Parts: sequence; structure tokens; C-alpha cells
Amino acid sequence: MATGPIPFKSSNNEEEDVKPCPPHDYDELVSTLPLQEGLRLYQNFWWPESVVPGIIQIQQQFHARPTDVFLATFPKSGTTWLKALIFTIMTRTQSPLAQNPILSHHPHDCVIFMDGLFAIGHGHKLEPMPSPRILHTHMAYSLLPASVRDDDPGSRIIYLCRDPKDTVVSLWRFLEKSNHEKAKEFPFDKLCDMFCEGTSPIGPIWDHVLQYWRESLRRPDKVLFLTYEEMLENTVKIVKRLGEFLGCPFSEEEEREGVVEEVVRICSFENLKGLEVNKVGSQGSFWKFSNSSYFRKGGVGDWKNHMSMEMAKKMDEVMRGKIKGSGLILPTLN
Ligand code: A3P
Repeated sequence: MATGPIPFKSSNNEEEDVKPCPPHDYDELVSTLPLQEGLRLYQNFWWPESVVPGIIQIQQQFHARPTDVFLATFPKSGTTWLKALIFTIMTRTQSPLAQNPILSHHPHDCVIFMDGLFAIGHGHKLEPMPSPRILHTHMAYSLLPASVRDDDPGSRIIYLCRDPKDTVVSLWRFLEKSNHEKAKEFPFDKLCDMFCEGTSPIGPIWDHVLQYWRESLRRPDKVLFLTYEEMLENTVKIVKRLGEFLGCPFSEEEEREGVVEEVVRICSFENLKGLEVNKVGSQGSFWKFSNSSYFRKGGVGDWKNHMSMEMAKKMDEVMRGKIKGSGLILPTLN
């Protein structure tokens, strides 16, 4: 059997991919959950209704392998970038970097969004994947199945979040581009209010962030907490840190040969956005998003072009109040 990681899509039949068969075992339970704006409150987080059955199925049926690497993110925090970086770091010795599969597959086809996969009834496709697997989730820490949270032996988890102000702008622009009418029903002001109230998709954002923050303090060898802003500020440093955390540190020779810088360049916004494979095709089953919509603008501070100072202040105050006393320092709140 091949050793991983390999791109999820390369191990799967394209035709079967287009046939969703969502699990119906939990329909009754889901119908009893609080519903607001198409989102269901499941175990204290607001989920798109169509994804909830998949989350329940993951909790009940998924078993992590000790070698699994989980990327956990709040939506629109830079998941696509993190997927590209982790995939490239972990596969860098399988072939010359110039032939790395990240250059011929969309990052979301390399690292699968497991919540979405289970929601369309295709969770079984994770089984034949060779180890180590890289899997992505938007689940809060408290929702993860026990096998992922187990201390011993314990899978590795890398968490990524971003300034909520930029996150909400990114989400708003992203939803606008969906093929789904419901996705377009979120005007910017409404989304900002939902963020502040903790009812935005997968929110409350502060509980999501704090749960992973606390776990990263408790188990720093297994849970790595990152922000989009710190990744952007010194990507080389973060890539080296990721290599160490994942147990595949860059050797002195690799450093001398500029491998770290090459990984950074390959996964840069400009490079990925320009690749043909990222300009065509789409992701998702219930709500479809074009591959290109995952590469919008990149960078920090686009909120200044869309948000009133009043709303920005409110969002900062809400977030500051919620993380107070946790020891978490978010670069954009200082
Ligand atoms: P913007 O909408 O602010 O441009 P996610 O991947 O979690 O959906 O997040 C998407 C955000 O990450 C978008 O932000 C997108 O442009 C940005 N992004 C995608 N690829 C990136 C990369 N290689 N480097 C930096 N940012 C990237």
C-alpha cells in the first residue's frame, strides 16, 4: 500500500464523487435543534443544517489513527493556505518539489473537508487512505470525537483562526459567489451582527478559538495554535515550526538549499491563485463554490474597506471581552 499523504481526490472515483447520499439516521434529532437563518445549534455551535448529520456521524463512527493530522479552522481563516502548506511540507520528499501534487490539485482536493464528506454520506472514503492522513474540520474542539481528543497516543491538531473582522468580510464575499440562493441571503451588516451575537456559521467564534487555545496550552506537543496574521508576518518561521511539530523538521541541508523558501513560494497566494487547476472546477455538494473563490484578495485589514469604524470597534470589544483572562493575544486586538 502506498504511504501517505496522498491527495484525497487521486484516491477516489470522480463519478462517485458527484452522487451525495446524506445519512438520514439523525433527521429526527436534527429537526428538534434550534434553527436560525438555516443554521442549527448543535452542541453549542451553529452549523449549516445540511452538515449536522455528518457531524453526528463523525462523532459516532469515525476512529482517528495516531498518525492522522487534523487541520481545524474557523471558516475563512486561511484554511486553503494551511492545507497547501501542510500537504507540501509532509510530501516534500516524495517527489521533486516542482512536481508536488499541490501544483496539479486544488488544496481542497488534496486535503478533504471531512465534515462535508460525511454530510454527503461518503465518510467511508477515508478508510482506504494511506497513513498519514491529513484531514480538515471546522468542528470546535469539544465536538471532536474522543479518538481525536485522546491524549494517548493522540493525533496532531493544527488550529488556525483570523481577525474576526477580516473573517466576516471574507465570508460575506465568499457566500456571494455561491451557486446557492440561501448562501446569498447574508448581507454584510447581518453577518457582522451574527458574529457579534455568536450565531454566525460555526460560531460563536470566541468559543471555537478559546477551546483550541486552551488545549494548545495543555498539550503543546499535540495541538498547535496559529493565527493567519502571524503566518503572513513570517511564513518561513511558521513553515519551519510546522515541520518540527509534524515530526518532519527541515534538515540543515534542506535549509541551505532553500527548500523552506520554495515551499513558501509554491503555497503563496500569488502562485496558487495563478495555477490553472485553481481557476476551474468547484468544491462542495449542497452549496457549490468555484475553486477560484478560495483565492480572493489575501492579506490583513480588508475590513477597513467595508466595515464602519463603529462596527469594527464593537467586534473588537466583543472579542476582547470574551478572551480576557485566557492569556490569548490576538495580534489585531492590540
Ligand atoms: P480573503 O477573502 O480575505 O481574500 P479559507 O481558505 O479558510 O476559506 O479562507 C480564505 C481566505 O484565505 C481568503 O481571504 C483567501 O484569499 C485567503 N487565502 C487563500 N489562499 C491563500 C494563500 N495562499 N495565502 C494567503 N491567503 C490565502
